[in-house]
Amino acid sequence: FKKAFIFDLDGVIVDTAKFHFLAWKNLAESLDISFSEEENEQLKGVSRVKSLEKILKWGNKTISEEKFNSLMAMKNEEYLSFVDAMSTDDILPGVLETLTYLKENDYPIALGSASKNARRILTKVKLNSYFEYIVDGNEVSKAKPDPEVFLKGCELLGVEPKQSIVFEDSQAGIKAANNAQMTSVGIGDELVLSEADFNFKSFSEISEDVLQTLINFKK
Ligand code: G6P
Ligand code: MG
Repeated sequence: FKKAFIFDLDGVIVDTAKFHFLAWKNLAESLDISFSEEENEQLKGVSRVKSLEKILKWGNKTISEEKFNSLMAMKNEEYLSFVDAMSTDDILPGVLETLTYLKENDYPIALGSASKNARRILTKVKLNSYFEYIVDGNEVSKAKPDPEVFLKGCELLGVEPKQSIVFEDSQAGIKAANNAQMTSVGIGDELVLSEADFNFKSFSEISEDVLQTLINFKK
C-alpha cells in the first residue's frame, strides 16, 4: 500500500510562526504579562482561543468575555497584516521540492493545521494545488495533541493512520501524530521535538532518499 503525507502549516511550510510570536508578544505585553520564546513554544500548534487562555493563566489575569473576544480579534488583525504581506518567498527552504516530488509520484497529500487562516495563507504562497484536502481550525474541535485534525486528514485521503507520515514543528503536533500511531517527523529543533520518530532542521535535509526512508519506516 501507498503511504500518505500530512503537513502542518505554520512553521513547517511557511515561516508564520514568527508572526504568531510577534502578535502574541505585543498582546501579552499590553497586559503586562512577560512573554518569551519559551512560552511561545508552548503555543505552537495550539488554537487561538487556547493560546490566549494560556497567556492569561501565565499572567494570573482574568478578563471579561468581551475583552477576551476583542483581544483575540486584535491579535488576528495584527497577524493577518503580516500574512497579507507574504509571497512565495516565504515558503520555507526545501518545501517546494518535497511537495513536487510527492505530487509527481502520486502520493496523497493533506494539510492538517489548527489555524483558521490556513486557506488564506496557502493562497498567498500559491501552494493550494498540492493539497488534495485541507483540514484546518475551522473543521476540528479537539486541539493537538488530540489527533483529530490528522485523523480527519487520513479519513479524507482514505488511508489508515499507520500509513501516514506527519510533518510537524510543534510538540503538541508530534504528540498528536504519535497518539494516532502515525509516523511523526519533527521539523526544527531536535531537542524540542525529541519525541518525533525522525528529526530534521528543515526540508532542505529531506532528499528523495530520506523520503524513501520515511516511506519504508514501520512504527
Ligand atoms: C497553528 C499555530 C498556532 C496558532 C494556531 C491557530 O497551530 O502553530 O500558533 O495559534 O495555528 O491559528 P490562527 O491562524 O487560527 O490564529
Ligand atoms: Mg506548526
